[in-house]
Amino acid sequence: MTKLYQKILKPIFFKQEPEKVHNNIIKLGKILGTYSFTRAIIHAQFHFDHPALHTTVAGITFKNPLGLAAGFDKNAQLYEILPEIGFGFAELGSITGEPCAGNPQPRLFRIPSEKSIIVNYGLMNDGCVAISQCLQNKKFRIPIGLSVAKTNDPKLDTLAGIKDYIKAYRYMHSLGSYTTINVSCPNTVDGQTFGHPTNLKLLLNALAQERHERPIFIKIKPDFDEKQLLEIIHLTNAHDWITGFIISNLTTHRDGLNTSKQELDALSPQGGLSGLPTQKRSLEAIRFVHQHSKKIIIGCGGIFTGQDAIDKIKAGASLLQLVTSMIYEGPGVVAKIKREMVDIMHQENIMDIDMLKQEYH
Ligand SMILES: Cc1cc2nc3c(=O)[nH]c(=O)nc-3n(C[C@H](O)[C@H](O)[C@H](O)COP(=O)(O)O)c2cc1C
Repeated sequence: MTKLYQKILKPIFFKQEPEKVHNNIIKLGKILGTYSFTRAIIHAQFHFDHPALHTTVAGITFKNPLGLAAGFDKNAQLYEILPEIGFGFAELGSITGEPCAGNPQPRLFRIPSEKSIIVNYGLMNDGCVAISQCLQNKKFRIPIGLSVAKTNDPKLDTLAGIKDYIKAYRYMHSLGSYTTINVSCPNTVDGQTFGHPTNLKLLLNALAQERHERPIFIKIKPDFDEKQLLEIIHLTNAHDWITGFIISNLTTHRDGLNTSKQELDALSPQGGLSGLPTQKRSLEAIRFVHQHSKKIIIGCGGIFTGQDAIDKIKAGASLLQLVTSMIYEGPGVVAKIKREMVDIMHQENIMDIDMLKQEYH
């Protein structure tokens, strides 16, 4: 399946505008998820299950620790098909208080030489009211996380921004297995207002007053230095309702890559980078946060192989997420990574993910 994607589908997709391909894949995925026979076909093609991958985190059981990261299924349309591709869980959104058209197009740019995508969507989504209606009373076959973020509107000042987060949180929190507070989207008009400690503190104090029925994760950027990470850890330690962190979102750094900053800026001066350019930064941030915080970490950023996945778990992650490797290698990458993880654990005489965590965490 991976070869079919690489040899036939990817060359066709990569000739087309990235956002058009993304939209068509969402439409196709939605149709394939609607019928039990199409779900069974996808299941037969992509499924790989192994007891060594089963794990329980934050009281939720996962068939495997590999999840879809936020941003691919912004309007929660793929929850029927994602389990058949083999994801152990999926994070949908990010979902904002108000519907949001996002930034002007084009706003997605592939950089194949970097195995990366410049993402400048600007939190396009249908908003928490419409999306929560679609998800009411739905039974999910894998744990579903719902990511909430602040509506991308420069008119929202800090206090209005907090109200917007709270609105989205109230609509979404009880519908999934966990909620993520995304404070690290780098492509909104006002930047990452709530990624910075002063405003984050206000936001967390406001969220502290809400009901916390499910685990809650804070998604951070990979670009903090150690001092900033310590500040974030210190802030979140004051809130025992915060279950953990997702590390990380897109990077805003454009230096040190094979492609020059000038070339990237010529493609799109705005937007964050996904994929390989986030890999090392997110790994280092995971390791640092794990050393200084007891909270659970979901590792995300540049996971292309089983080794990348195992490295993130060894650094301190309990669960993992990906999106860019699926765009570059197709949905077969999920089974490929899981197989490689099982092989690596086998070679290292590690029985399963839980034993791996016990040895390294
Ligand atoms: C097309 C695209 C859209 C994204 N949109 C969101 C989003 O809405 N919310 C969010 O928290 N992260 C978003 N992200 C970031 C990813 O969830 C992830 O943190 C980042 O891409 C690093 O993982 P990766 O290297 O596996 O892609 C987006 C990423 C991509 C590629």
